[in-house]
Amino acid sequence: MTDLATLQSDALARIDGATDADALEALRIEYLGKQGSISALMKTLGKMTPEERQEQAPKIQGARTAVADAITARKEGFEAEELERKLAEERLDLTLPTPQAPKGSVHPVSQVMDELAEIFADLGFSVATGPEIEDDWHNFTALNMAETHPARAMHDTFYFPDEDSEGQSASSSEAVGQKERMLLRTHTSPVQIRSMVEQGAPIRIIAPGRVYRSDSDATHTPMFHQVEGLVIDKDINLGHLKWTLETFLKAFFERDDIVLRLRPSYFPFTEPSVEVDVGWQDVNGRRVLGGDGDAPGHGWMELLGSGMVNRRVIEFAGLDPDEWQGFAFGVGVDRLAMLKYGMDDLRAFFDGDLRWLGHYGFSPFDQPTISAGVGAGA
Ligand code: PHE
Repeated sequence: MTDLATLQSDALARIDGATDADALEALRIEYLGKQGSISALMKTLGKMTPEERQEQAPKIQGARTAVADAITARKEGFEAEELERKLAEERLDLTLPTPQAPKGSVHPVSQVMDELAEIFADLGFSVATGPEIEDDWHNFTALNMAETHPARAMHDTFYFPDEDSEGQSASSSEAVGQKERMLLRTHTSPVQIRSMVEQGAPIRIIAPGRVYRSDSDATHTPMFHQVEGLVIDKDINLGHLKWTLETFLKAFFERDDIVLRLRPSYFPFTEPSVEVDVGWQDVNGRRVLGGDGDAPGHGWMELLGSGMVNRRVIEFAGLDPDEWQGFAFGVGVDRLAMLKYGMDDLRAFFDGDLRWLGHYGFSPFDQPTISAGVGAGA
C-alpha cells in the first residue's frame, strides 16, 4: 500500500511542479491514460478476490480521483495565469481607424425634395401627397382638360389598359367598369384637386413626387419628379405668386441676385397662366444663375409653369370661386437639382450607377443644410 501512497504523492508533487499545459498533459497520460500507471492498477482489480477488491478498490479509486482533481485544478490555474498574462500584456488600441463599412448616400432628388420642404415650411406650406396611379378625372377633367380638350395631347400619357378590352377577368372588369380610366399621373397637379376636395380652403401646400410621361432623351425620362405648389385663400393675386417664387428660388439657389421674368402662357388649369424664366449670366464661360437676364452676356432660362388657379378648377373641386382664389405652380425637381448641383444628363439620375451617386450623392450623416450650401458626397 505504501506503493500506492508513494505513487499518489509522487504524482501530486509532479503535477504541482508542472510548468505548462503540455507538461501537465504528459503527466495526465502517464498516470490516467490507457497505458497509465493508475489505469494499470485499476485493471488489477479484476484479478483480485472479492475481499481484496473491496479493500483495494476505494484506495485505487481515491488515488485516481486525487490525481485527476489535481490535474484539473492545475489546468485551471494555467488558464487563469494565461488570462492574467493576456490582460496585462495585450492592449486594444481604440484609436485605430475601423475598417470602412460601405455607407449609403442620399440621392440628389431626395436631397432637393428635402430642401424644398424645408424652404416652403418656413413660408407656412405643408407637404401633401397623392397617388401615382391616378384617375382620368383628377389628372385631366377636374383640371379643366375635358375628354376632347386639345391640351390632353400635350401629355404623352401612360394609360392603363381599358378594363374590358385587355382581357381582364369578368369580376375585375365589373368592379372597375364604372370607374374612371386609370393612368400614371402626368404631373403633380392632381394633388391640387385632392387637397381642395379633402381639406377645403384655405390651403398652402407643396406636393413633391414622381410623374410619368412617355418620353426619353437626354433631357426627358419616362419618370421624373415635380413639385406642385398651391395656395388658396381670399384675395390672393399674382403678386403673391411672384413673391413666393422669388423667395423660394433665392433660398434654394442661395443667391440674392436671382431675377425672374414672368411671361404669359397657357395651361388649362390656370388663368392667367405664367411661364417663369430665371436670369443667368456668363461667368468665365459658364452659365450661372443670377444677374440681369436682359444685359449683354446675360440670358433667360425657362424654369416653371404657374398661374392663378382657373375658377373652373376651383368649382370642380367643390369650392366657390367667388370666395376663394389662389395660385399654383409646378416645377421639375430633377431640373432644379441639375441646376443647383451642376449635373448635365438627366438619365444618370435613374441609372442606379453607384459611382455617379458616390460623386453627386449626399452623406446621410452630413447633410448640407440650406445655409451650408453645395456639398459633394463622400
Ligand atoms: N402641371 C404643369 C406641367 O406639368 C405645370 C403647372 C402646374 C402649371 C401648376 C401651372 C400650374 O407642365
